[in-house]
Amino acid sequence: MSTSKAQVLIDRNRTIAPISPLLFGGFAEHMGRCVYEGIYDPKSPHADERGFRNDVLDALRDQGYTTIRYPGGNFLSGYNWLDGVGPKDQRPRVRELAWQSTETNQFGTNEFMEFCKAIQAEPMLGVNMGTGTIQSAADLVEYCNVAQGTRWSDLRASHGVREPHNVRYWCVGNEMDGPWQIGHLDAASYGNKALEAAKVMKMQDPTIKTILCGSSNDRMPTYPDWDRTALEIAWEDMDYLSMHYYAGNGENDTASYLASAVLFERYVDALEGTLRYVKAKRRSKHDIYLSWDEWQVWYKGDPTQGNWVEAPHLAEETYNLEDALVVAQWLNVFLRKSYALKIACVAQIVNTISWLHTRPDGLLKHPSYYAFKLVSNLARGDALDVHVKSPNVETRHYDAVPSLDVSASYDLETQKGALFLVNRSQTESVPTDLVWQDGQTLKIDQAWQLAGTDPKEVNSWDAPERLVAKTIPLPPVDGGRATINLPPLSFTVLTTCAV
Ligand code: AHR
Repeated sequence: MSTSKAQVLIDRNRTIAPISPLLFGGFAEHMGRCVYEGIYDPKSPHADERGFRNDVLDALRDQGYTTIRYPGGNFLSGYNWLDGVGPKDQRPRVRELAWQSTETNQFGTNEFMEFCKAIQAEPMLGVNMGTGTIQSAADLVEYCNVAQGTRWSDLRASHGVREPHNVRYWCVGNEMDGPWQIGHLDAASYGNKALEAAKVMKMQDPTIKTILCGSSNDRMPTYPDWDRTALEIAWEDMDYLSMHYYAGNGENDTASYLASAVLFERYVDALEGTLRYVKAKRRSKHDIYLSWDEWQVWYKGDPTQGNWVEAPHLAEETYNLEDALVVAQWLNVFLRKSYALKIACVAQIVNTISWLHTRPDGLLKHPSYYAFKLVSNLARGDALDVHVKSPNVETRHYDAVPSLDVSASYDLETQKGALFLVNRSQTESVPTDLVWQDGQTLKIDQAWQLAGTDPKEVNSWDAPERLVAKTIPLPPVDGGRATINLPPLSFTVLTTCAV
């Protein structure tokens, strides 16, 4: 056991930025069993009168999702939104090309809005920039956001939805840089199409916020030029730049994998730099922020092609402890980068690439579920710039990195703070001094830990609670200082309140 100590210095005046509530979003795509058998399963004994699974709704509420991005994903680029509205018995069954599945269209835009209301999340809709036109994009904005008296708003009313949905956030396409994308475009062609689409969408409703497709990941040969080019063209009509990234331990190099936050931070830094460059180049007063609207661990290799069946099992990953610790670091990065990053959506919320799995008789929560739940429910107010002095761990990909990965928040209104601490060492406990430097008299009033001894440990249907966040004894605070021993392979969350 190492005696090498760490110190975390916290000052509620040393703020980074307000934490955008939309950082705790999710993504629901018509892919695999995310929508059908996940959210919507009218034949399930768990279904409510609308066909939504109650146990899934409860779990999503428990995780505090603030926004949900829908309907894709690659699915979006072949989707005709008109197929998914109106009487259900008249909706077409279609061949869904992106995931080679059969799409019944029994769940569409209005069902999605109802679902968002049920979990109190802000909807974030995508418009098809693959097979779709700027006209179909503008029409969908009209269908959703215009009160009445015109072709598409009256169509919505005839579908039983009198009040407009007033959707504020709109993704202008999905991963259009990817050759796999239906209707893939080069950066300039996409930039021009996205600009024209955003223009007509904002003519329909000037209050909406638009999200430009950025690179699909930092390994794309066109990254980051794609982002720069599309931004230079569409800058004034866009409000966010989309980022996507899926992490994994494909090389079974756990030390490097557990240092993934380094990679996540570099990715944000590069795109934030690109935003600053384009703003300067365009002599613009307008700001664009980052929307990390697909992020998750995904590498274990479940198939992604559905053999033309309905709701096939696609990309259903079993997540282990090391995956959960990577998720916790991802959330730490969101807080540390909260000056640039304003939206984030985990991909996806149930079954497909998800830490939540359904079976006809129940629900399984993988360990990452608990990491997300803790941060999304407790990070409030401003993100704090904590100073961390920590022993290092050696990694093959990133050399030496600190054992501790930390973020913090403080809410001036409630005077409540939260600290999120990952110990990424696989072998060493780290005794850690917590020092509040601003003189506030406080105490630690809640403490949780998600920890284990084996990075590959999982929850299963037979042992569903092997890895959950457990409460731990509250470290006493004396004179603005406390000490806590952080075990290896752990995520610890502490909250503070004034006394
Ligand atoms: O979330 C699964 C897929 O990953 C999405 O459809 C696509 O945008 C990304 O490549």
